[in-house]
Amino acid sequence: MLCPCGCSLTLACNLLLNMRALSVLQRACVRQIALTCSARWRWTESKSFSSTIQEKHTPSNAMFKHLTSKIKATGPISVAEYTREVLTNPVLGYYVKNDMLGADGDFITSPEISQIFGELLGIWCVSEWMAAGKPKEFQFVEFGPGRGSLASDVLRVFSQLRAVLGGTAVSVHLVEVSPRLSEVQARSLTGDLNQVSRSENDPAYRRGTTGTGLPISWYRSLDDVPKGFSIYLAHEFFDALPIHKFQKTKRGWREMMVDIDPEDAERLRFVLVPAPTLASSALIQPDESREHVEVCPEGGVVIQKLSGRIVEDGGAALIADYGHDGTGTDTFRGFRGHKPHDVLSAPGTADLTADVDFSYLRRLAGGRVACFGPVAQRTFLQNMGIDVRLQVLLQNSPDASTRAQLTQGFDMLTDPAKMGDRFKFFALLNHNRLAPPPPAEKGKKRAPAPLPVAGFSELKL
Ligand SMILES: C[S@@+](CC[C@H](N)C(=O)[O-])C[C@H]1O[C@@H](n2cnc3c(N)ncnc32)[C@H](O)[C@@H]1O
Repeated sequence: MLCPCGCSLTLACNLLLNMRALSVLQRACVRQIALTCSARWRWTESKSFSSTIQEKHTPSNAMFKHLTSKIKATGPISVAEYTREVLTNPVLGYYVKNDMLGADGDFITSPEISQIFGELLGIWCVSEWMAAGKPKEFQFVEFGPGRGSLASDVLRVFSQLRAVLGGTAVSVHLVEVSPRLSEVQARSLTGDLNQVSRSENDPAYRRGTTGTGLPISWYRSLDDVPKGFSIYLAHEFFDALPIHKFQKTKRGWREMMVDIDPEDAERLRFVLVPAPTLASSALIQPDESREHVEVCPEGGVVIQKLSGRIVEDGGAALIADYGHDGTGTDTFRGFRGHKPHDVLSAPGTADLTADVDFSYLRRLAGGRVACFGPVAQRTFLQNMGIDVRLQVLLQNSPDASTRAQLTQGFDMLTDPAKMGDRFKFFALLNHNRLAPPPPAEKGKKRAPAPLPVAGFSELKL
């Protein structure tokens, strides 16, 4: 059998069925990709992780006016409502209007730092498709695809692995709330081969064909994505969903809200609601031991829906984000121009984000699916073969500046003091995917053990 890359390496079929083979497959593919693709390296300053520096609020922008009218009409608003308005208001929202990624934007993400990141995630998708028994139809679904860089790198891997994917009907589905970013993604992934859907009944708002010839569609919500075997990726998506904030007080848990500063009508401020709210009653666990807690119910709803889909239609979800396993406290922060930004200052002009609580996501999955992780990004990427990929790229890069950029990008993604520890990987898998094979029938060989879950276990040669 040919190497799935289509290169001249020969692998025995059965090699694909065990861990060692997966490792060989990944490394062979990584090498082949390195030989055939030019490196995309454009990293700059990363998101800063330090806490927000408080700035004096000055601009009275349209979003500020919108928020203050709302507060004047109904009273202080929850941090979740504030964030939802600021980020995704259909007219004024930060994500809706801006292309905020990259050196000229407000922050940079792993797929923008290094092509290796998306390539390794592409291999993860294919390995999970293989582990599921290679279904004939395979939907690749990405949440919040930003500029489309991760999808582009994943699709290049799919194209390299054409021999493995064979006649499988692969389709691409992007869940993106921002019309502005969907245009950027469409240009990057399809060139001109896309158009806005004309029919109101079409669940997709844009459709096209990727540069590699796959059907691609854009949706506002997971609810609109067709059912079917799917591998889901969400990179820095859950951290962009609105959180509620709660503070423990002598009188019990109280929700933090956003209000107009009574001493300066041009400023917003946080206030604690004097009595319990529906959210503080419903979202705090009885055994909670922290003093301050952030909860993201929208993230929980997405996880519940994903779990249901994975149970019913098969597939897996890989979630990568900065976060904690139920220990984080006050993590809500803003970024503008690659610098920390006061979350209440000039709303709509900066990104707002909060660490993802993976223990909450696991709880909301409710045991219907198997949860893996969170594991640190450097562990996941090392398990996926990032060191080998770097070496191959270095060997194939003739000039010193490209080699320096390669090494810097690798360092940024894996150094524990940078993105290596703070970013985590978490996966949802169908329980059947992990079930041991039934005992062999008399005279027959027992079916092979399930493939190990790539990235979450060490791959040994
Ligand atoms: C922080 S950016 C991450 C972009 C990209 N995944 C990356 O890592 O470079 C968040 C992305 O999620 C999208 N997004 C935010 N909230 C969303 C929502 N509620 N539904 C769908 N997409 C959303 C944004 O428009 C953007 O594409």
